[in-house]
Amino acid sequence: MTYSDLVWHASLVDRKLRPSAGGTVWFTGLSGSGKSTLATAVESALIKAGRHAYILDGDNLRHGLNADLGFTAEDRKENVRRVAHVARLFADAGVVALVPVISPYRSARAEARATHQALGLAFVEVFVDAPLQDCIDRDPKGLYAKAIEGTIAHFTGISDPYEEPEEPEVHIKTKEQSPEESVSRILAYLESVDLLASSQALLDAEAQVKQPRA
Ligand code: ADX
Repeated sequence: MTYSDLVWHASLVDRKLRPSAGGTVWFTGLSGSGKSTLATAVESALIKAGRHAYILDGDNLRHGLNADLGFTAEDRKENVRRVAHVARLFADAGVVALVPVISPYRSARAEARATHQALGLAFVEVFVDAPLQDCIDRDPKGLYAKAIEGTIAHFTGISDPYEEPEEPEVHIKTKEQSPEESVSRILAYLESVDLLASSQALLDAEAQVKQPRA
């Protein structure tokens, strides 16, 4: 079978008719930089604001969808490609997909972005910029110690590259900002691109403003 034997089957539902608009917030950074912690806090805030949101965590997806992949450059690119496509499905369905994955290669992240842009979906890149030494000191999973002693190969930052984003929408410097400040900055950005409050909540708020006083 070749690609030309496949035909795209479009939905009858226009995206504007879905109850809410989705998008993808892509958290990139070293292992242990705090990506998942920030994504979890942002998810809670979005849900409280009435927005559909869901986390697609790199570590978690490697237990199922990506269980066949390791950490060679080729496998990481495939990992990111799959996660990007799943995120795009969520975004297209009206969910804000929160994606904490190391995604160390610029080209793979650019493809994830292009995948979203092709459908006119928002893609927000958040660079969780933690100094490598801080990640080594924290080492929440004990993996840096193993990578340094050589028991784990291809470890990002130790024996494998991490290519920093050049123009992320949000640049979080964990050395200079508390987690709370970082979450606020991300939420402020999401608000500026209409990804924070649910459209229904906005409509309700507008209706309240327009209602004449008794
Ligand atoms: S990515 O590079 O392909 O984007 P992903 O975010 O899915 O990585 O998974 C990274 C997680 O796998 C890390 O947080 C860590 O817990 C674990 N891990 C195991 N081996 C490695 C490795 N060699 N390099 C980086 N992370 C690893």
